[in-house]
Formats: sequence, structure tokens, C-alpha cells
Amino acid sequence: MSKDETLLSTASLDKVDPEIAATIENEHKRQQENLIMIASENLVSRAVLEAQGSVLTNKYAEGYPGARYYGGCCFVDQAEELAYKRAVELFRADHVNVQPHSGTSANMAVYLALLKPGDRILGMDLSHGGHLTHGSKVNISGRYYEAHSYGVDRETNYINLRHVREKAIEIKPKLIIAGASSYPRLIDYAGFRSVADEVGAIFMVDMAHTAGLIAAGMHPNPVETADIVTATTHKTFRGPRGGMIFCKSQYASAIDKAVFPGLQGGPLMHIVAAKAVAFKEAMTPEFIQYQETVLANARALAEALIEHKFDLITGGTDTHLILVDLRRKGISGRLAEELLEGVHLTVNKNVIPFDPKGANDPSGIRLGTPTLSSRGMKPAQMTEIASLINKTIEYRNDQEKLAEVRNSASRLCLEFPAY
Ligand SMILES: Cc1ncc(COP(=O)(O)O)c(C=O)c1O
Repeated sequence: MSKDETLLSTASLDKVDPEIAATIENEHKRQQENLIMIASENLVSRAVLEAQGSVLTNKYAEGYPGARYYGGCCFVDQAEELAYKRAVELFRADHVNVQPHSGTSANMAVYLALLKPGDRILGMDLSHGGHLTHGSKVNISGRYYEAHSYGVDRETNYINLRHVREKAIEIKPKLIIAGASSYPRLIDYAGFRSVADEVGAIFMVDMAHTAGLIAAGMHPNPVETADIVTATTHKTFRGPRGGMIFCKSQYASAIDKAVFPGLQGGPLMHIVAAKAVAFKEAMTPEFIQYQETVLANARALAEALIEHKFDLITGGTDTHLILVDLRRKGISGRLAEELLEGVHLTVNKNVIPFDPKGANDPSGIRLGTPTLSSRGMKPAQMTEIASLINKTIEYRNDQEKLAEVRNSASRLCLEFPAY
């Protein structure tokens, strides 16, 4: 590096930091060369990437548009106002806060706004598909609040609202949370609403996983039903990594104060701008088509897996994700994840409801279609991918067969480039 190329220079990343440049290039290659079925991941557009990588990262903007604690906020104010306006329109919300750094920060801000330490909350059991931040003992939500949980029905693996109601009547929570990380079915928000009303609880939905499907009108919109709705912007929604909180007007001021100054300092304005871009993209017919494909692909993948005699939790999916019970196949979730990784199929091991095994080596895997759909794949490719998954597991000791699968996966990756 010459003297002129230090600090504020225009030298490119590969000159300034070849190690990190190589890491990024390798990750780019990995995304290109693997069929990624992590249900919580996606590929953002170039426009979102551009906003994220912009000079907006330089700006401090504690506060909200028009009421900042720093000068020079006129342009970042415009970015946040656009994000706000578009999000409210898209989800038909009274109010939104677009500053949470992540889904977890969004949930923490809601608790900070509405609860006192020790208050009772009722959320879905982590081991049945809920999320850490809904009251798990290892998370702040289960340590600072008195957390109770509901699970799925042992027979059907569906959420049983009768059980939710019984639990809610028994413990009288201040807050009821609906939403999940590995639940493949629609959630009855109206049913939860009436349980919350019956016991006088505030009703929150965490739509982190399904925000994209909801924005496109594929799933009912909980923003119309719940008091508060949190989400991530990076899963099915296909925006930058981040969070957001929708709420009814009466909670707006408490939520805003909880995000800043309660929980966070300066918002990540490059991310807020990228969220605005994602909101704009989500208003297009192409986005609706994309979400239709996500669902059609998940159904096609589920049907093909069933043909290959895989057991699916609840027997199928209404969403972008599938939870596979591998016990009939005589393989653990961890081994399946490792084997599939070896043939360019990326999935994650996952507990299944009432799993006899632990989270480190559970009985299931979770599969999702958002990333494959972003690459332009359709149900025909899902049928082929189900067959590749089946071959990998059936012939796990046959190196020749595994090499065939690897070649087929690579061919699909070339045919449907990630970027
Ligand atoms: C339902 C749900 N809520 C919240 C989160 C947390 O999001 P983040 O990883 O952005 O903190 C997740 C992430 O997987 C999730 O599935």
C-alpha cells in the first residue's frame, strides 16, 4: 500500500485487506456453489446490497426524523421517512419503528416498552418451534420475565388453541406471543387475539419468518389483528439484516422510547435505507410472484419428500419451511446436515416437537425455499432436490452415488446463479 492509499484512500478492499477480501469472495462462492435451504436465509437484491454498503454507514442519527441529537441528518431523515411511509403502507399499520438492529432487538424493545421485570409472558416452547426470545431460560426473555410456554399437540403437531387458552387462563400473562422459527403451518392470529382478550393480555406476533409472505398477501396480516408485531427484514422478506416493530397508535410512543433511548443508541442508517429499498421492492408484482413461488416450491419439495417416504412434521407445510422427522430414515439431524453439506446441499439440524434427542444432535432437519426461489428455481427443481436429498441419505456410504449427487447439485447451481 502506498502512502496515498492509507486511511481515507480509494484503494479497494483487496488491496487494503486481502484476507477479508478473500473471505468475502469465498463466501460469495459458497453461496453460488451450494443449494441453500436454511429457512431463515435469503439473497438480497443488488439494490439492497448497494444501500447497505453506502456512505450512510458514516452517519450518527440518534433520535427520530426531525428530532435528532446530531446535526447533518437531513438526508438520513429522508431515508428513514421513506422507510416508515413504505412500511406503514405495505403492512397497513398505524405505526412502525424501523430502527431495531435485529429481530432480537425488536423483541427486547417490546418487552422493555410493555413489561416490568418479573411480569408473566406466554410464548411458544422453543423445543416445539418457538424462538429463544419468546421466554427461553437461556435468553434474557426467560431470565428477566416469568416465562411460560405452550406447545403443539402431541397427535397432530399443530398448535392447539384450546391448550393455549387453558394455559392463558391458568397463568394470566401480561403478554401473549404468537410466532415461531420452525412451525410449518399457518398460525390462527384471530384465535390468539380472542384468547388474549379473554385474559386481558397484550397480544404480540413475531412474524420474523413469514413477513415476506404476509407483505405479499399470501398469509393473513397479523398487523391488523395484534397490538404489536415484530419482524426481521432478512428472511422471507428479502431485505437487509435487521428488525422492525409495528404497533397500534396507543403503543407508538412507548415502543419508540424503548428502541431509543431505551435499548439502542444510533440507528444503522445504511440498514434503514436498505430496509426502505426492500419495502419498495415488496410493493412490486415481481415480489408477489416471488412469494407465490416460495410457497409453491415449499409444497412441491414437501410432496416429493413424502413420496421418498420422509416423515414431515404436520404432514406438510403452509409456509416457506418444512420440518423433517428423520427417525424413520435411521439418521440423526446432525449427521444428515453434515452429509448434505458434503454434496452442496445446505440445511440445518433441528429439534422436532417432543424430540427424544437434544438440540446438539436432534431428530430432524429444517428446510426452506426462500433462497432457492430467489435464484429462480421452480417446483421442477424442488422435485429434483428432494430426490438428491433422498439419494444422499439412502446411499450415505456409497461414494460414487454421493459424487453423482454433488455433480447434480453443482449443475443446478450453475443453471440458477445466485448473483
Ligand atoms: C421467530 C423469530 N424471532 C426472532 C428472531 C431473531 O432474529 P435475529 O436473528 O435478527 O435477532 C428469529 C431468528 O431466527 C426468529 O426466527
